[in-house]
Amino acid sequence: METEELKAYLKAGKIATQAKKNAAKSIKPGMKLLEIAEKIEKEILENEGKPAFPVNLSLNHNAAHYTPSFNDMTELQENDVLKVDIGVHVEGFIADCAFTLNPSNSHSKLLEASEKALQNALSLVKPGLEIGKIGEEIEKTIKSFGFQPVYNLSGHGLQEFEAHAFPTIPNHANKDSKTLEDGTAFAIEPFATDGEGKVREGGVAEIFSIEHPASCRGQAARKILEFAEKEYKTLPFAERWIHNSLKLSEFERKIGLRELMQKGILHSYPVLHEMQGKLVSQAETSIVLNNAEVLILVE
Ligand code: CO
Repeated sequence: METEELKAYLKAGKIATQAKKNAAKSIKPGMKLLEIAEKIEKEILENEGKPAFPVNLSLNHNAAHYTPSFNDMTELQENDVLKVDIGVHVEGFIADCAFTLNPSNSHSKLLEASEKALQNALSLVKPGLEIGKIGEEIEKTIKSFGFQPVYNLSGHGLQEFEAHAFPTIPNHANKDSKTLEDGTAFAIEPFATDGEGKVREGGVAEIFSIEHPASCRGQAARKILEFAEKEYKTLPFAERWIHNSLKLSEFERKIGLRELMQKGILHSYPVLHEMQGKLVSQAETSIVLNNAEVLILVE
């Protein structure tokens, strides 16, 4: 990996580590999810990074892709299981990390399962490791706590301005015999659940990314596309970011986003959830393999 690229990864990792540590310290029951997301995103910008995607704050049976809307009133409760998923990029090079919070500690075993699965997986990581071995270790660890891994969520490669790239890092023993190559950046992110181990899409999407840029007719659509291309390139962004940055009425914003979706220009990320009443925990960090060294980007 080139020096400049490696430097950017390490810087993104540092900023993400700090954001994660401060979030773990400062998030308290009674806080609004919106306030939490905005605080973390602001801190990333102050430290000269950029959010690689909107801070995901998925509660309880929601596993991923929940970010507050601009008028979200949801407050964190004592017993909630909150996944805090933070992405930072420096010139397009991304550090992706996540941890789970449960203020009352009533679900500490579930949190421990995903955290231990991540640590056990990390202890195996080195260039040449079969990717399936990571999944095998994650599945084994989570099951030893009496839970299920979420089979249809996985870790992923990290590429310049691409948060979900090749290779897929499984959360179960899928026997993938491809190996980790030197020079690869990737995230490992085990999810543990007392549910069935499978997430489904649901609810209204608040997260979008540009998939196939093309021309569009509507003024609002053009405005959103032009802004998003410049600010986020191919990385995911939140509807509330558009709300905060562009002078569009709510109606114009909705019409614009709808046109961009209908034309296939935007990709949306609906919330991914387990069965109602079940819980999901998550742990994640990013790794760079460089000259046979294993660099863990986020502590
Ligand atoms: Co990730």
